[in-house]
Amino acid sequence: MKIAVAGKGGAGKTTISGTIARALARSGHAVMAVDADVNPMLGISLGLGMDRTERLAGIRQELSESAAEDAIHEHTIDGLIERFGEDAPDGVRVVVASRVDMPDHGCLCCGVSADRLLREIEAGGRTVLGDLEAGIGVLTRMEVGSLDVVLVVANPTPKSIEVARRAVEAAVARETKVLVVANRVTSADDLDAIRSVLGEHEMAVVPEDAVIARADAEGRAPIDLDETSPGVRAIVEISEWLVARPREKYAASQR
Ligand SMILES: Nc1ncnc2c1ncn2[C@@H]1O[C@H](COP(=O)(O)OP(=O)(O)O)[C@@H](O)[C@H]1O
Ligand SMILES: [Mg+2]
Repeated sequence: MKIAVAGKGGAGKTTISGTIARALARSGHAVMAVDADVNPMLGISLGLGMDRTERLAGIRQELSESAAEDAIHEHTIDGLIERFGEDAPDGVRVVVASRVDMPDHGCLCCGVSADRLLREIEAGGRTVLGDLEAGIGVLTRMEVGSLDVVLVVANPTPKSIEVARRAVEAAVARETKVLVVANRVTSADDLDAIRSVLGEHEMAVVPEDAVIARADAEGRAPIDLDETSPGVRAIVEISEWLVARPREKYAASQR
């Protein structure tokens, strides 16, 4: 199964991606987390810590900067994941997908975009989870069948809801199943604001949660701080929703 997490900057994509990846891995799934943000921070929300998260982002850049003609470059996606990925807690494998800004050697390590990586990666028996960059760019470069599910994260603010609306539109146009994630909800009014625009879609609600905010401040994974907090529990429930609905496409679910 291939899942992408989309929405406005700051909506909670990385928090939600990291926590879902950990929860799926804990329930026995092989999880491949793809950090497709230009500013890759997924490692933090997965519990890799600051140092390993930075190393993960920089390692391909180092290779492409090395002038050595004999540097060995990667030409397969599995090779890229094997060589440049990291193992996060619970057995989640994570790789950074953003394009490096160095000369293209015709290889994947120096020239693969997040779009291409997400389109071409073989899920096989794994769950591939892509934490997208802000906005809808990557989604618009997907094709019908590239993804199984798009989680569209919306905060209860007009701009966040508008970006979410466009992300839903892009996903639906590609016949991809959508789950709207109403995040940082503090009141019935918050939820109504999101429902008034996106109410026709399936929705999960994640409350505003001090544990999630604190995890971010400490550079830790929310699930490592307190897996019983309301926000973390709500995200773990989304992972259960994903498992219960493998490969069901938007078109089928809307009939
Ligand atoms: N449910 C929540 N409760 C409290 N804080 C949250 C919640 N979801 C996200 N945050 C905070 O919002 C900020 C942005 O979240 P992040 O996951 O980095 O967003 P994105 O990846 O969409 O840019 C972070 O500081 C994060 O801790
Ligand atoms: Mg992010």
